[in-house]
Amino acid sequence: MMRTLAVTGTLALLLGLTSPLQAADIEAGKAKAQPCQACHGKDGNTPLDATYPRLAGQHASYLEKALKDYRSGARANVIMAGFATPMTDEDIKNLSAYFASLPGDLHDLSHHEK
Ligand code: HEC
Repeated sequence: MMRTLAVTGTLALLLGLTSPLQAADIEAGKAKAQPCQACHGKDGNTPLDATYPRLAGQHASYLEKALKDYRSGARANVIMAGFATPMTDEDIKNLSAYFASLPGDLHDLSHHEK
């Protein structure tokens, strides 16, 4: 019994120590998002041009994939390649988490509430 508790405690401690390193940092993403706002809108919902995509409330995994594809060239766009090329994986994760966290109606959130 004591042994089980000790093991559980150690696991909880390990998880507590490792998860912040892997979790996306929304504040860090926000700090890097200023240049993006010029085109994608201050709130991620009001792009400069109707053909520029809205980012607010998009799935973080979708945004991450888009940025990685611009960086690798798998998705070709001169403008976004310029922004994505210098990004680290961490930048991509944080920026994606930030834009995903903004209120937006790109996809139906009702299934999250059930
Ligand atoms: C000069 C204007 C401009 C700036 C600044 C800009 N973008 Fe973009 N972004 C675009 C355009 C235009 C597209 C659509 C490109 C395409 O057709 O693939 C786009 C596409 C994207 C997409 C793909 C969205 C989707 O729905 O597929 C993401 C993600 C993105 N931008 C993130 C960012 C981030 C993060 C920044 C800041 C680091 C940024 N952008 C800065 C113009 C810009």
